[in-house]
Amino acid sequence: MTKEQIDEIIPKDIGKVMSGDQRDHVMERLSKHLTKWQLGRLRHALFNAPDAPVSYPFLWDIAQHDYVQWNGIADNAGLGPIGRNAGEVIGVFGTLDWKEEKRTTLSSIIGGQSDGITQVSFDSSVNVQNLHRIESHLMKLNSPVWPEEILGAINREKAARGKTLFDEYCEACHARIDREDPNRRIIANMTKVNFVGTDSAMAKNSFTAQGYSGILRNQYVGLGVGNILLDKQAPVAALLTQATTNVVATPDPDKWFFQRWTDWIVNLAKAFFENEIKSSIKYGNYDPDTTVSPLASLNAYKGRSLNGIWATAPYLHNGSVPSLHDLLLPKKREGDPEEGEYRPEQFKVGSREFDPAKVGLKSSDKGFTFDTSFPGNSNAGHEYASGKTAQPNGEVLKPLNKEQKDDLLEYLKTL
Ligand code: HEC
Repeated sequence: MTKEQIDEIIPKDIGKVMSGDQRDHVMERLSKHLTKWQLGRLRHALFNAPDAPVSYPFLWDIAQHDYVQWNGIADNAGLGPIGRNAGEVIGVFGTLDWKEEKRTTLSSIIGGQSDGITQVSFDSSVNVQNLHRIESHLMKLNSPVWPEEILGAINREKAARGKTLFDEYCEACHARIDREDPNRRIIANMTKVNFVGTDSAMAKNSFTAQGYSGILRNQYVGLGVGNILLDKQAPVAALLTQATTNVVATPDPDKWFFQRWTDWIVNLAKAFFENEIKSSIKYGNYDPDTTVSPLASLNAYKGRSLNGIWATAPYLHNGSVPSLHDLLLPKKREGDPEEGEYRPEQFKVGSREFDPAKVGLKSSDKGFTFDTSFPGNSNAGHEYASGKTAQPNGEVLKPLNKEQKDDLLEYLKTL
């Protein structure tokens, strides 16, 4: 590339760190000078491929959880919920304006940056006050009860038989709770990915993805087993922790001086003291974090209380199973007889018509085809009702017959 071309791409007045807009402009101009192949390589070097889509999780009882996210990545104690919400804003629409500064501020100390000479200021468009409002609202959200007058009466006899099966086959990982108890707690019961056997891509990305640290290089980030020092490349999970903690610790740059600081102190104090969840040890069967593998515990998925589950199709973290009926079936594998009943290998998503028989959304002709053979989309695993996946004690229970599965399905509607 000639010097003139570079000058055209990168404006003279650019500082050491580009703002979001400047970066977008540079990328846009750069793309005009690179071949498709070169652009692909650049993209590959800078970004992690979004190759593990997840289904939108249902939100009730999130504020009452000990750990949230499909793989229990975030602790819900203290400022955890605000950090989690800040991460979500950064992930979708948030704008970030981060700069290196040669001074220590109260925010950089709270954000854990007090060890270096140069600090980073984490100005952003994240509005902590609104995030706190949303989270307070979420605390009041209760799970929906199966509306018998619309979707049909529940057969109480069948449901009672299903309850006994649930106790034996499911309860170990899906505790029952009283949906209206204001003091309820939801325990994320973790199961190692290779034990539950569902698609591994999401969990794997969360502990293997690496990113360039940029101006965050040489900062310390506290993880469960201790501090890690961010190198040129560092785990994305650690970079995200550092980013969200510091964004939350930074007062809103759009407010005038006095209001900025008073709002900031009040918001943080409220978010911290109004959150009744305390730090606790994660439940379940997962590999512990170690100094050799500080994010090992993320290679697991969580089982949670299933109240309101009837309303949340499609199922599993990657939305690969369209209904509860299908979830109780096995996946078809090589050598399985053709005439058996299996989880669908392809189905349409996008329909809003409820299927009360299968308990899920009806697959219509239109919409997007979900193909379970694509990477990240596997519908295997969690075949507890079909005698294929072992219970936490290692025992594989007998497959349920058709009638038993119907009873269990009837019971799931009552949750
Ligand atoms: C050993 C623990 C364990 C047992 C036993 C277990 N589950 Fe699960 N369950 C999980 C885990 C882990 C997930 C999340 C898996 C994923 O998304 O990849 C899950 C997910 C689910 C989901 C989907 C939740 C959602 O939001 O999409 C349903 C429904 C469910 N289980 C029902 C059952 C039923 C019914 C049984 C009994 C037949 C059962 N589970 C037995 C651990 C368990």
